[in-house]
Amino acid sequence: MSNAKGPSELAEEHEFQQMRELGALMIYRSHINKLADGEWTDDTGFSLGPLKPSLMGEDPRLPAMPEKPTLIDFFNLRFGPSKQHLLQSAALAQKNGLSEKMVLACLLHDVSVIALFRPDHGYWGAQMLEPYVDEEVTWAIRMHQALRFFPDESVGYEYPEAYAKRFGADYQVEDYIRRDYEEARNHKWYMSARMICLNDLYAFDPDTVVTIDDFEDVIGRHFKQPAEGLGNDNSPAAHMWRTLRRPANAL
Ligand SMILES: [Fe+2]
Ligand SMILES: [Fe+2]
Repeated sequence: MSNAKGPSELAEEHEFQQMRELGALMIYRSHINKLADGEWTDDTGFSLGPLKPSLMGEDPRLPAMPEKPTLIDFFNLRFGPSKQHLLQSAALAQKNGLSEKMVLACLLHDVSVIALFRPDHGYWGAQMLEPYVDEEVTWAIRMHQALRFFPDESVGYEYPEAYAKRFGADYQVEDYIRRDYEEARNHKWYMSARMICLNDLYAFDPDTVVTIDDFEDVIGRHFKQPAEGLGNDNSPAAHMWRTLRRPANAL
C-alpha cells in the first residue's frame, strides 16, 4: 500500500502550516500575509482545517486596548516602531510653521506603512483616515506617494537619494503614479501634498525622540475621534481599525 498522501491530505497539511496554535486556540494568518512572505500555491484542495476553537476577539499576544480606543491608543499599542518617523515629520512640520492641519497630515502620512500595508501606502492610509479628518489631509496623504518621485525645484524638493539607492538609479514609476502626479500638479491642494514630501525627507534622526503627547492638542482639534471608540463606530473605515486591533481573528 502506498504511503503517498492524497490531494486533500496535502491541502490539509498545507493549511496546518499556515495556522499556529495559541494554547487551545487556532490562530490564522491572512492570505495577504502569506503572499507577502512569498507563499503561494496552486493546490486545488480545500479544507476547513481542524474544527477547533479559533481566535475571535482580543488577541492575547498583543497589548490590551481600551474598550473605546482613540487614535493615540492605536499609536501607542498597535503602530510599529517606525512611528518615530511620523512623529519627527510632524515635529519638523511644526518647526517649519505649517498649519495644524498640515502637522496632522505629516503625523499620519505613512500610517499605512506602520500599521497596515506598505504597498500603495498613500492610498490605504488616506482611506483609513477619510472619515475622521479634513479632506485636504487625506488628499495630501494619498498624493504624497506619487509626488515623492518627482522633484519640485520651486520648493527645493529633489528626488530622494534614498530612493535611488533602494530602487536603482534607473527606476521608473508605474503609470498610475505618473497619472496621479500629473493630476496632483494642477490641483488646488498640490502644495499640501508637496509639504508632506518636504517635511518627510529629513525626518529620520535616530537621536531625536518625539512623543505622541506633543501632538495631543493637534489631534484633539483636527481628528474626529468617535465617542464609541475608533473601530467601534460605523464609518466606512471602521473595519480597518478593527482589523488592526485584532489582526488574527479567524473571520
Ligand atoms: Fe510615504
Ligand atoms: Fe514618510
